[in-house]
Amino acid sequence: MSPPPSSTPSLAAVVRVLKDGIWDRCELIQLASGELRVRKTTKGTGPWGVNTLRAETHYLQALPPGAAEHFPAVLAAWGEKPEESNVGYEMPYFDGWRDGGEWVRSGTLYQKDADRLQEDLAQTVFRSLHRPEPARPALAAHVEEIIRGALEQLDRLPEFSELMRAGEIVLNGHALPGPERAFQALLAQGDLFRALAQAPCVLLHGDLLLENVLWRTNILAGKPRLILLDPVSVAGVALGPPIFDLVKYESYATGELYAMRTGLVEAARANDPGATPAYRYRVRWEDSAMRPFRLVDLHTRFRAAYTARHGEFDRNVYRLLDAYFALVMALNTTGLLRWARVLKATECLGEIAKH
Ligand SMILES: Nc1ncnc2c1ncn2[C@@H]1O[C@H](COP(=O)(O)OP(=O)(O)O)[C@@H](O)[C@H]1O
Ligand SMILES: [Mg+2]
Repeated sequence: MSPPPSSTPSLAAVVRVLKDGIWDRCELIQLASGELRVRKTTKGTGPWGVNTLRAETHYLQALPPGAAEHFPAVLAAWGEKPEESNVGYEMPYFDGWRDGGEWVRSGTLYQKDADRLQEDLAQTVFRSLHRPEPARPALAAHVEEIIRGALEQLDRLPEFSELMRAGEIVLNGHALPGPERAFQALLAQGDLFRALAQAPCVLLHGDLLLENVLWRTNILAGKPRLILLDPVSVAGVALGPPIFDLVKYESYATGELYAMRTGLVEAARANDPGATPAYRYRVRWEDSAMRPFRLVDLHTRFRAAYTARHGEFDRNVYRLLDAYFALVMALNTTGLLRWARVLKATECLGEIAKH
């Protein structure tokens, strides 16, 4: 049995910052004993930051056997109580592993390795993690609430009100219903939210993107080749239909989410004199920073493994979750990055309404 986690941060020196994120900070620390750990602490910002880090800590501490070995152990955790604002935890440092985002950007991930990474990930997520859960969280209601709230907030911003209220728009040269109209149409129809509510529920990763996957090409004695990090979605989702993890994974692995996050996109109102408001949204694939995503395919094998395990999925449920993810982040970004999210969501909602 491993010792219970300590409830205070260890006395340690910060070796370096691994990531200074929007909501939290990840640091490599060294204890007086020489032991290296990673400490993750909240910055106490954003609508979800503190609670999500708490939920992440609980998730890691409550993992069922079989799944726990694919995640880091919690070595210390603090800020459990709702009134505490200093929340964080410590975990082992995986020296010699690289996260999938680093692998892609390094340009040293050959297709053979990319295939193996996808297979290792599929095996871990679909076999060890995605197990049926008796609990039925109201994911459909949560998705509906987030989309509705985001559209309302965007409607109040002068920059977006024309788009939000338009009955019809042109996006990349194609006519689509405006986002609010598309959303109202799919609510009135009801099938899609029913499909989401009735989908089987599993334990999800919740934020399954390559940056949250540590991987090495060879196995170190007794250690897994792949480790999952940073579970639970920004909005706190950790249980739901398996497609939730697929949509998130593919958004990053295809390069699109990476492009949206780093501004490698065009996303704006087009200077079109027509009566229908026109917009343009596209990833700047030609940019050299997108090259790694053009060179290796990080998603086809994973998709094939998904359908082998969970079966075919409803394209519109996929689009709905894609719109949901885009709108969650539209509320947490500004400028071009926000426009990209808003137009991505507009495209997804509009496509659902058309199909
Ligand atoms: N235990 C660890 N060992 C090695 N690297 C880690 C570890 N934890 C985090 N990292 C690195 O730090 C990055 C950020 O950590 P993560 O938990 O994903 O934080 P965030 O919620 O800010 O994305 C990861 O993408 C990975 O590169
Ligand atoms: Mg992360």
